[in-house]
Amino acid sequence: MSTQVREKQPLWRQLFTSQIGKKLLTGLTGLGLTLFVIVHMAGNLSYFAGNEAYNAYAHKLLSLGPLLYIAELGLLAFFVFHIVLGVNIYLGKRKAREQGYKRYKTAGGQSKQSLSSRSMIVTGVILGVFLVLHLVSFKFGAYYEAAESIDGKPVRDLARLLNEKFQSPLYAFGYSGVMVLLALHLRHGIWSAFQSLGATNPRLTPLIYTLGALVGLLIAVGFFILPLWIFFTGGNA
Ligand code: HEM
Repeated sequence: MSTQVREKQPLWRQLFTSQIGKKLLTGLTGLGLTLFVIVHMAGNLSYFAGNEAYNAYAHKLLSLGPLLYIAELGLLAFFVFHIVLGVNIYLGKRKAREQGYKRYKTAGGQSKQSLSSRSMIVTGVILGVFLVLHLVSFKFGAYYEAAESIDGKPVRDLARLLNEKFQSPLYAFGYSGVMVLLALHLRHGIWSAFQSLGATNPRLTPLIYTLGALVGLLIAVGFFILPLWIFFTGGNA
């Protein structure tokens, strides 16, 4: 009888190959992306202080130059890791279910099966597609130059682009709908990330679950008031 001695993988490899490691990395990148989304939402709200304030905020970000490129590369890496590992975990689970469990059981309790948890792959894929369309529409969208300049430098009139895009019901309601899906994704995602980080004490579960739901809701509302405001009021003059 031959005995096979399996070599233990180094820790960094286990992170990418084991189910626990993949969940941990997905959770950590997800929490990082949540922070980005909160900062992005807060920046968007400066639109309510007027077109100039919004353009000045976007201009400040652009003026970071190389620092901004580094941050964008980091952000891209977070998105790529999060999506690739998330899809990988989903496919792994599906395979296990096909092989082992024929019946789909609602777990309740600690595993928190819910509409949000079961739809993570669907909401995730829609958010991924949204992100590409979003960047095409805004980051790489029409370049208008604002009447004002800052320190003698031309300023991009992003507020005008927002005002234009969200006159369209497709944009205004499409964005609002996607923000609801974002809230669902975050509701389960934040809870799941804390579980992977070891916050498994049953006494903490309701607290973390409520936190995830609340953060998801606040982010979604903070985002979709802008398109709806512009659609229904015509936006800033
Ligand atoms: C109502 C909702 C939203 C509005 C009005 C909005 C608006 C914008 C605008 C105007 C830009 C271009 C900024 C610039 O080029 O300086 C931008 C960039 C971006 N947005 Fe959004 N956004 C929204 C929601 C989201 C959501 C939900 C996500 C993520 C899931 C997201 C991810 C991004 C990313 C990654 C960039 C590029 C950032 C960079 O490269 O510096 N946005 N957004």
